Amino acid sequence: MRIDDVLNSRLDLIENGKVKEAMAYSLLAGGKRIRPVLLYTAVKGYGLDESIADPFACAIEMIHTYSLIHDDLPAMDNDDLRRGRPTCHKQFDEATAILAGDGLLTYAFETALSSGAQPLQVVKAAKILAEMAGPNGMVLGQDLDINEIQGITDWEALQNIHHLKTGCLLSAPLMIAAVLASHDEDIEKWHEIGNILGLAFQIQDDILDIRLSPEEFGKSNSDIRNDKVTSVSLLGENEAECMMNTLYEKGRELIGNLDHFQSEEMIGLIDRIQTRKK
Ligand code: IPE
Ligand code: IPE
Ligand code: MG
Ligand code: MG
Ligand code: MG
Repeated sequence: MRIDDVLNSRLDLIENGKVKEAMAYSLLAGGKRIRPVLLYTAVKGYGLDESIADPFACAIEMIHTYSLIHDDLPAMDNDDLRRGRPTCHKQFDEATAILAGDGLLTYAFETALSSGAQPLQVVKAAKILAEMAGPNGMVLGQDLDINEIQGITDWEALQNIHHLKTGCLLSAPLMIAAVLASHDEDIEKWHEIGNILGLAFQIQDDILDIRLSPEEFGKSNSDIRNDKVTSVSLLGENEAECMMNTLYEKGRELIGNLDHFQSEEMIGLIDRIQTRKK
């Protein structure tokens, strides 16, 4: 995949050491690469060459991977398996896993800022990345997921957590594509679409967490062990699945309504995400 080549060439620029090894271990373990693929597909939908998106595709996958390394730590979900391998802190140690996450987060911005796009576009895109990943975005979602979720009984509140912890990092690549294509008027529309797709994606993750074994899923299924309130525990498996399908459909409808965006490839990608088996 294009993203793997670009990630490898960025990793080559880091000094050898344990933290680099741990960063590469988690980054190259073979995730689905949904966020970079969303970005590449979105820039192509705007008629641009995908190479313009390379630094941002790398950055978003680095941030996502850092979020997974930290999410798996004993202080958070305490999981042993990720992307079919022992989690970073199991393979190395906790300190190295924390630093690998720190390294990926910081290096994501170094990579994004090395973009050859117009300087104003780079600034806007980097700001979106920071807003979506940071303490008003994914980090806030993880905060609520760790510290508030236990008491939640209503769907609205859970939906808000899912928008933040998962939707934000799916919105970011879509919003960045609009910036790179100089269609800033679409940024908020993609934000909304990413939130809808993120909610669908997290519901699907919650369903797969109970349906698949860790070996099949490639990661520990810890929601029940951690007593997590999830879309499945709140709505039941059937209602959660109906909700997921409705949300993916809504996402496709909104994408189809965008002006000056060739939506066929993006709609095909959403279909493939919706029917994923793991
Ligand atoms: C896992 O994301 C975390 C969630 C937001 C559910 P992915 O399912 O995209 O994980 P990888 O990148 O394929 O490992
Ligand atoms: C995590 O949600 C979302 C992140 C921001 C990492 P989960 O805790 O459900 O993700 P998995 O199931 O461990 O991949
Ligand atoms: Mg978690
Ligand atoms: Mg987790
Ligand atoms: Mg999960």
